[in-house]
Amino acid sequence: MIKKNTLHQTKLARISLLFSSFVFCSSTASAQDVGEKLFLNNCAECHQRDGKGLPNIYPALAGSEVVRGSGVDVALVMLIGRGEMPSFADAITYEDMASIINYVRNAWGNNGKEISAQKISDLR
Ligand code: HEC
Repeated sequence: MIKKNTLHQTKLARISLLFSSFVFCSSTASAQDVGEKLFLNNCAECHQRDGKGLPNIYPALAGSEVVRGSGVDVALVMLIGRGEMPSFADAITYEDMASIINYVRNAWGNNGKEISAQKISDLR
């Protein structure tokens, strides 16, 4: 009886371990979701949620040379602003900028290396 109980506990421990690794994995997967949400809140009004922008008004980020080129270039556009686009330097934290950049550089067929918040703050 005691043996059976221990076995049961080990099983429970294994299940909870499995469960916590599941939670852990889904929370890392949601880094992308955070970036997407921030993009929708801050950028999609102009660049559109599909990243295609509006012809002759807002450039597409999907397939953009700048976006595909380097995270630093995208960070500079966000920090400094460009033309009609406002600077986000005082509106968004470096962490959130990194999430947005990593999102746009890996959405809609783009495929770019990740940038860290530290790297962005070093640009200032
Ligand atoms: C008010 C509209 C507006 C918002 C909001 C906006 N942008 Fe822009 N964005 C523009 C315009 C307009 C340009 C083109 C500026 C120019 O070249 O004169 C641009 C250019 C860019 C470029 C350069 C693209 C290229 O291929 O040259 C990037 C990258 C970019 N925006 C990213 C973002 C991100 C990321 C956000 C959200 C944090 C954002 N933008 C929010 C209007 C906007």
